[in-house]
Amino acid sequence: MITLNLQHIVEALKNDDVAAIPTETVYGLAGKADSYKAVAKIYNLKGRPSFNPLIVHVSCFEHIETFAEISPEQKACMDFFWSQKKSLTVVLNLKEKHPLTPLVTAGLPTVAIRMPHHPLALEIIHCTGPLAAPSANVSNKLSPTKAEHVQLSFKSNAPFILDGGECLVGVESTILNLASKKPELLRAGGVLKEDLEHYFKSDVPYVHTNIPNAPGQLKHHYSPGCPVILNKADVENGSVLLGFGPHTPPYAIFNLSKTANLEEAAHNLFTAMHKLALMKPKSITVMPIPKYGIGLAINDRLERAACTI
Ligand code: TXA
Ligand code: MG
Repeated sequence: MITLNLQHIVEALKNDDVAAIPTETVYGLAGKADSYKAVAKIYNLKGRPSFNPLIVHVSCFEHIETFAEISPEQKACMDFFWSQKKSLTVVLNLKEKHPLTPLVTAGLPTVAIRMPHHPLALEIIHCTGPLAAPSANVSNKLSPTKAEHVQLSFKSNAPFILDGGECLVGVESTILNLASKKPELLRAGGVLKEDLEHYFKSDVPYVHTNIPNAPGQLKHHYSPGCPVILNKADVENGSVLLGFGPHTPPYAIFNLSKTANLEEAAHNLFTAMHKLALMKPKSITVMPIPKYGIGLAINDRLERAACTI
């Protein structure tokens, strides 16, 4: 059920239940990170394989210190990006003793951590403590950028959903591995490879792998329920066109950005895909989108949506 009552959400979470909450990237399906019951319910509702760990969302550094090893350099990096309201997730080593349920990390010795900057998400986490929260959609389907998308995805199984309007960024956080010898980019997002390389003054390789151990990088993902054809502007019979830029033909159903602005396109991506999926087309055709800046994250999501294996 969609609600505007933050207190209901906090109560549900405190009682080891799950709830969908808005973040600046996409909506998250949240549960207390120290609650076996809540985190098991997250995996169940999503139909998510238990080897694919979750991100722990925090509202302050004190939260992190209870469960992860954190060096001054790692703290400085997080502080740098988070204080600028950037959507960055970092992977750190877990403390030997910590209160998280092992389900959250899928038994890995590392943990993914993110401080969202959506004011509602921060207020909730401040009241509940650290929350595990994957994107609030059934596994392998489109990510939700509106409360209605969450309701549509889970249908009658939908938990309480706090309506915080449309998500600002529109694609999931960038994931940076700080537990490896040298920093590695695990998932492209709003924080760009260039931003990370500028901060570290060195190359930050994009470790693109399909091994569950570097998870989330499962190939087939973000399915709109029909084939997705990339990098074309002419559509076959029964296909609908998702446009990008000023040269989008008039028969396109949606233009991600008339001015070819990549941030705007990222913000609109999942909302547009949900809209087109609801039309139940034979396929969705997507015009080419440049592969730089946040365009890298857009192409990553689209390539996974187009992948059939
Ligand atoms: O923007 C976001 O990050 C959203 C919002 C809700 O915060 N969350 C999100 O969660 O995208 P999810 O579960 O859809 O993606 C989390 C990703 C997965 O790809 C998972 O494999 C990866 O984080 N991950 C989690 N723990 C990890 C770890 N210890 N090492 C490497 N990757 C990890
Ligand atoms: Mg997801």
